[in-house]
Amino acid sequence: MIHSDPTLRKIRDGLFHGLRDYTKSFPDFSIPQKFEMARPSEGHALLARMNESLRDDDEMLLYVHLPFCYHECVFCNTAPRRANREGQARYLASLLGEIRLYGDAGIFQGKRIRSVYFGGGTPTAYPTEDLRAILDALDAYCEFARGNIVTVEAYPKHLCGNGRPRELADAGVHRLSVGCQTFDPAVAALVNRSNPADQIREVLAECHAAGLTVNVDMMIGLPGQTLEGLHDDLAALDELRPDAVEYMRHEIVNPLATALYDSRPELLTDDDALFAMVVDSQAWMERNGYEQNGWFESDRFFPYRYHWLQEIPFVGLGSRARSFTRHLSVDKHESLQIYSQLIDRGDPAIARSLALGSQDQMYRAVFLRLQLKRGVDLDEIDRRFPQSSHELTPLLDDLEAHGCVSRDGATARLTRYGSYFVEDVCCAVIDYALQRCGYPPSYRRMPHSAGSRTARLDH
Ligand SMILES: C[S@@+](CC[C@H](N)C(=O)[O-])C[C@H]1O[C@@H](n2cnc3c(N)ncnc32)[C@H](O)[C@@H]1O
Ligand code: SF4
Repeated sequence: MIHSDPTLRKIRDGLFHGLRDYTKSFPDFSIPQKFEMARPSEGHALLARMNESLRDDDEMLLYVHLPFCYHECVFCNTAPRRANREGQARYLASLLGEIRLYGDAGIFQGKRIRSVYFGGGTPTAYPTEDLRAILDALDAYCEFARGNIVTVEAYPKHLCGNGRPRELADAGVHRLSVGCQTFDPAVAALVNRSNPADQIREVLAECHAAGLTVNVDMMIGLPGQTLEGLHDDLAALDELRPDAVEYMRHEIVNPLATALYDSRPELLTDDDALFAMVVDSQAWMERNGYEQNGWFESDRFFPYRYHWLQEIPFVGLGSRARSFTRHLSVDKHESLQIYSQLIDRGDPAIARSLALGSQDQMYRAVFLRLQLKRGVDLDEIDRRFPQSSHELTPLLDDLEAHGCVSRDGATARLTRYGSYFVEDVCCAVIDYALQRCGYPPSYRRMPHSAGSRTARLDH
């Protein structure tokens, strides 16, 4: 099939990244080396700048980071800490302190919260009453937009046979995003997971009975995964029919994965098999009417992501969490110890910041809007960034030559196959920006986070 379709051939030969050179660059544009480290004494000034840069916005998204997990999946890219009562309680107290700090600084003032996303780690490693306490604290400072959606990432086993879905719904949660990755027992064993289709069926039934909608995260390019195994996963999904599905390519960052591939190189999915996995998983998504990055038309499947891609600013709460306004990005300290120490003494725990110049803003706007089905309005980009929008022409020409972008008047949008390979398109946009903006060679596309063993306790 790949050989017989000229567009797929072009993508395979000129744009596609196998597992070795792939970084999970979506959904946001970022050149990490551009961030400047912040001293603790600069935290309040940076928070004030963030507030100032939010002045013209009336909506906002909130991300809440809960970095604990009971598991140690071999592929995990989020570097969670091992769940433990004492560490989690200390972190929660700091997080609530941070919400008060931001609230008192006026960050949420005059904004409607369009969507809230609890990510991790595994947020369901916290009891529901703690998640409720966070929502209550936000409620005290924030006005929520009508129809706002609160999503919580969850580990499937946490939702079975314990009344948890109903508890979560009662606490104000609307949607769960459940890790699954694969139903293939051999691959699941290799990556230290187990979530057979029967368990996911139970999760879906319990969640639906409680009025929650459920996204299921799936992956391709896992150790030992085969095309036949992927087809079995798709057949299982055909029957399960979650409310949303997201297919993600394995980004090799976790030292456990690297060690596994070193000792058993035959487990690495080769490029042709991976390419076929992208085509087959994305064709399945398209056939079944599931939206994901590359062809979002509505906020039905991924409410938080859909609004994010329209440049609604988001504020990250918790360690490591990133905030992005139109003009400024700030990252928090990743060390839980430093995060808590700073917050506990009343200082924002901002570790680094990036003031976005016009060129950064333009690349980011194009990068985000290209992931929406309606594409990028180049006239609007021209109006917003008159000095820099002409820079885009060679990039769009190149993506068009690879069959990934089509232009219709002033609109540039991903083609069908461009949206299948949105992950490679995102890598291409970042690589292009890196070449065009005169950065030193040390500025490279790189993973947002490196997974590591949960044993890395730092509190
Ligand atoms: C932080 S997890 C949240 C869900 C929950 N912790 C679980 O795994 O069941 C979010 C999702 O990120 C994806 N993910 C984790 N590591 C990844 C990697 N190295 N490359 C690509 N996606 C990854 C997985 O699909 C995972 O479900
Ligand atoms: S992917 Fe695995 S290790 Fe990572 S947060 Fe989810 S359950 Fe935990």
